[in-house]
Amino acid sequence: MPSTLSAERERLGREWRRDWAEQVRAGHRFDLSTSLLGVPLLHPIGKASGQLSLRPEQLQHDADAGLSFAVLKTVIGEDAAGARSMGEWAIHETRMVVERRDAPGGRTGWTVTWKGRGWDGTLAGYCALVEAGRAHSRAGHLLVLPSVKLHLPPAGEEFREAEFAHTLGALRAAWGAEPLLLEHDFSPTLAGDPRGREREDILRWIDELPGMIRAHGGGPVRVALKLMNATFDDAFQAGMLRAAAGADAVTVFNRLWDKGRGVAYGGWELSDRNLAVLAAVPRDGQERSGTGNVISGRQVVEYARRGCSTVQCHTAFQLPLGEYAAGAGSRTARTLHRLVFDPADGLLAVMLEEEKAGRLHRHDGELRFRDLVGP
Ligand SMILES: Cc1cc2nc3c(=O)[nH]c(=O)nc-3n(C[C@H](O)[C@H](O)[C@H](O)COP(=O)(O)O)c2cc1C
Repeated sequence: MPSTLSAERERLGREWRRDWAEQVRAGHRFDLSTSLLGVPLLHPIGKASGQLSLRPEQLQHDADAGLSFAVLKTVIGEDAAGARSMGEWAIHETRMVVERRDAPGGRTGWTVTWKGRGWDGTLAGYCALVEAGRAHSRAGHLLVLPSVKLHLPPAGEEFREAEFAHTLGALRAAWGAEPLLLEHDFSPTLAGDPRGREREDILRWIDELPGMIRAHGGGPVRVALKLMNATFDDAFQAGMLRAAAGADAVTVFNRLWDKGRGVAYGGWELSDRNLAVLAAVPRDGQERSGTGNVISGRQVVEYARRGCSTVQCHTAFQLPLGEYAAGAGSRTARTLHRLVFDPADGLLAVMLEEEKAGRLHRHDGELRFRDLVGP
């Protein structure tokens, strides 16, 4: 790592700055810009949906740290009478445990163990959070988008359109008239649920959801499907990815399901599987956002090579404090410092490595993240 960059790393480790991405571009010639669902971003690192995007203060910390985007916790759809077809997913649980987890290849990684599911508050409360997020997005500081789980019918049953209409109507009112950006989550608990055992049903949901969501979105909608890791083999997993061609983007792939413990998990087994399936299905123009064990810049690049123009982290923000080189700042700031500036595995170090290997070339003196995005 050049000495000017090492000095920058030291400085930012002591005092992080919201405009760090502009700084590395102007001062060090790294253009990390990319986009998510058509919205330009200064860099590819965002926060995945979950317990770290439940409250306005969390979004404020993310905006202050110069995080690129945050996907809100998944809200469970409901109709005008408050009936929720996926109501088993709206349960309350607060305790999260950060644990080590061994992968079959022998590497030990990190996972967050938690027994909860979706947003456990009201739809109105969720919409207030969406509004708080819109204020950050309009200020140009942090793109915030909602995540939903809507009715997923078994074979022979129709989608409950009243649930789509009511939930998406409420989100639209909170969002405003601009194109509504939205993620739909399938979740690992669904993979472990009797509903997730029929391959045909899963493929039907993936195929039909984008159209259903657009039909009830009350205006233009751009939808990303966050695909689960189903309990079937890699060939089926690749089939799910192909079946999602009708979505504007895919977020790939949510955590693995541990049948024995009845919990979702991550770590190296998750990223190994995700990266293998992504490599097996070269990107065909569709946008991809990678999720699963993105705990270093090297992992950002692994996902990018397989077509992911952004990444979504959850566990990376929750590591024991000793895992972060930065001695000060919010968890968001320390995580960005780790992912971008680590001298061995940070995004900038890996981009320089790629340049040295002749796989990444400068344009007008700049190394561009988007040139790493495959195929
Ligand atoms: C405690 C916890 C809660 C989560 N809740 C959600 C959720 O509500 N919706 C969703 O789409 N993903 C959820 N996820 C999955 C994360 O968004 C992320 O995709 C996954 O954990 C993989 O990333 P990671 O390896 O960085 O943790 C959750 C993950 C954790 C650890």
